[in-house]
Amino acid sequence: MNTIKIAPSILSADFSKLGDEIIDITKAGADMIHIDVMDGNFVPNISFGVPIMKSIRDKTDLIFDVHLMIDAPERYIEDFAKAGADMIVVHAESTTHLHRVIQQIKNLGLKAGVSLNPATPVENLKYVIDELDMVLLMSVNPGFGGQKFIPSTIKKIKEVREISPTVDIQIDGGITDTTIKPCIEAGANIFVAGSFVFGGDYKEQIEKLKG
Ligand code: DX5
Ligand code: ZN
Repeated sequence: MNTIKIAPSILSADFSKLGDEIIDITKAGADMIHIDVMDGNFVPNISFGVPIMKSIRDKTDLIFDVHLMIDAPERYIEDFAKAGADMIVVHAESTTHLHRVIQQIKNLGLKAGVSLNPATPVENLKYVIDELDMVLLMSVNPGFGGQKFIPSTIKKIKEVREISPTVDIQIDGGITDTTIKPCIEAGANIFVAGSFVFGGDYKEQIEKLKG
């Protein structure tokens, strides 16, 4: 099985010193940086966009894992690629032409992922799974940090593993040192954590997640 990776979500960082936060989280042992982009349309919250991401690109060598919670993400793929994204994840619910967006991301030389909201069935991945580097299963309804883990995610992880033994499975929302355990057992291997990591000593919290 793939090794466990932790992707702290900077949505829970202190935005007034974001550059320092990126440096600190890198030193604390993060495996990648999870960047939550929200448009106030696809989700009921606005976070930040391309210029902010660009401003922190030179603070770390870690992978920028960009989670686009925006409608019609095809409009911004190139901008995020130019600003230093390594992997772009789009929501299956956010675009009419999911396959085309995946091609767009890959043609720019980036890794591609697709995310599913809690109510969206794994079946929606059937005809694109072979194109994907990662599947992101939302374990909360997207839009905010600090929400409670939705237990039906465990069943979905198993369903994704059934259709792909190799794809990276990332879980996002409500991840703690308790909720991470059944997810690992079910076959997930990358974990986004916002409030859990930024709510304590970053290194200790990451170590707790890695068990
Ligand atoms: C939610 C975001 C998450 C969020 C996770 O819409 O996609 O990445 O920041 O935060 P926690 O770990 O606090 O649930
Ligand atoms: Zn996210």
